[in-house]
Amino acid sequence: MRTHIQFLRGQNKVSLSDFHPTMTVLEYLRSIERSKGTKEGCAEGDCGACTIAIGRVKNGHLVYQPINACIHFVGMLDGCQLLTVEDLHVDGHFHAVQQAMIEHHGSQCGFCTPGIVMALFTMFHAGSKPVTKSEIRDWLAGNLCRCTGYRPIVDAAFEVMQNPANDHFSKHATETVHLLDELNDRMDVFVGDDEHYFASPGDLTCLTDMYKDNPDALLVNGATDIGLWVTKQLRSLPALIHLGRVLELTKIELDTGSVTLGAAVTYADSEKIMAGLDCDLAALWKRIGAKQVRACGTVGGNIANGSPIGDTPPVLIALGAEITLRHGATSRTIPLDEYFIAYGKQDRKPGELLVSIKIPRPQENQHFRCFKITKRFDQDISAVMAGFLIDVSDGVITKARIAFGGMAATPTRAHQTEIALVGARLDAPDSWNAALEKLEQDFTPLSDMRASAEYRSEIAKNLLLKTLIELAGNDQVQTRLTGKRVVGHAAS
Ligand SMILES: Cc1cc2nc3c(=O)[nH]c(=O)nc-3n(C[C@H](O)[C@H](O)[C@H](O)COP(=O)(O)OP(=O)(O)OC[C@H]3O[C@@H](n4cnc5c(N)ncnc54)[C@H](O)[C@@H]3O)c2cc1C
Ligand code: FES
Ligand code: FES
Repeated sequence: MRTHIQFLRGQNKVSLSDFHPTMTVLEYLRSIERSKGTKEGCAEGDCGACTIAIGRVKNGHLVYQPINACIHFVGMLDGCQLLTVEDLHVDGHFHAVQQAMIEHHGSQCGFCTPGIVMALFTMFHAGSKPVTKSEIRDWLAGNLCRCTGYRPIVDAAFEVMQNPANDHFSKHATETVHLLDELNDRMDVFVGDDEHYFASPGDLTCLTDMYKDNPDALLVNGATDIGLWVTKQLRSLPALIHLGRVLELTKIELDTGSVTLGAAVTYADSEKIMAGLDCDLAALWKRIGAKQVRACGTVGGNIANGSPIGDTPPVLIALGAEITLRHGATSRTIPLDEYFIAYGKQDRKPGELLVSIKIPRPQENQHFRCFKITKRFDQDISAVMAGFLIDVSDGVITKARIAFGGMAATPTRAHQTEIALVGARLDAPDSWNAALEKLEQDFTPLSDMRASAEYRSEIAKNLLLKTLIELAGNDQVQTRLTGKRVVGHAAS
């Protein structure tokens, strides 16, 4: 057992053995280390002013991801490399990303600039080159700039992203991988005392035993929900157990009939696999938070938090997903829709945790669709989220699984609508009416700041209609912003 966390700050090893469990990385940087380059804007993961880069070894390679330091707990840095804007100025020279921002006049007041530079630094180190302006906009969806305007920033990024990454950090990548491998000793970590602690178990048995014995502790996955409980609700969270170092929970298992995500798999790490299941899932994954949120946030956290407006539960319920929960050494598996009992109440007993999510692959006769309805396209929480899985044989609907978020106190199936759809013919729109009417009986939505009850009811019906029009293959109706759904592409 280690009683300190250890991480790389640039190339130097840092050990911390005395910090409050909910100290954020931003607080550590600005108040302890006194590195003030990283800014605080919203303190809730929305604006990107606090973006830093976290380096990790994945499949033997050094990977940099952008992270919101304002909602990331310092204990979660164990085994990572932490880079901030201060690290980019090497041997008296600006980084190529910084130089491009200067040359394209990408900064005015400069408050957003360190965050934008760090987000672009991670893009500079990611994937294949050259990149398109649309990819740059997607990468920067979590970074707001209020005075420069995005055109010069995107122009700067476009210029610098055309060439493969060749900088101080790529030159030292082998050394960094070696240093990070040394830090990742898989030991259980416990920092604090009986009342206040940040624990980070190194394997599943230690995690499940620890949580069973300490059911009042709070499990922390990516902290993209929990971080805000600290910064916005000012809640005191004295005992945290972090899941991110448990290898068993970060695995993705693939077989011919299903995909199984460990409960600590992030949106970023599951993006390609989910895109392979369906192009609507590719589009949805791109619209969950922004890069910074997707680098940390997990499907496990999205389910476990029990929110009625989480994006993934309706979709996974429609697909027929099952979840496995574990209490000590005892596991059980249940259909995901049975997990959500009532608002704020889930089928999870004290000391029990979610370990995996098994998602069946849609079969040949099954048609999947999902739609996210928000006020803003990027980085917004759903007003309504819908998932459809429709079985069709010879043009007749033989079975339907339909689930909605934002329509009730929990993510919920539209049972009456599902029954009414059976027997409907895709080439006879009149036969759809019964099901469209039943949607009103399945749900009594609320009005809130995201949408009125009437809007929610209307949009839910329209989403079902849109699905049926697409399944019927009616090319006369444009159902997508981009024209039509193209299988193999990220639909929108
Ligand atoms: C800027 C921003 C944008 C966002 N955009 C979206 C969005 O577009 N769509 C959306 O759905 N959500 C969004 N969210 C919310 C959040 O990112 C998601 O709900 C995310 O999936 C939470 O996962 P996490 O790993 O960060 O969970 P955490 O914050 O670590 O945990 C959330 C809850 O789940 C519990 N928990 C976590 N893992 C387990 C487990 N294995 N077993 C039992 N309990 C567990 C925790 O104890 C806690 O109660 C956004 C958040 C932010 C800050
Ligand atoms: S301060 Fe706004 S995202 Fe962190
Ligand atoms: S330069 Fe002022 S907010 Fe972006």
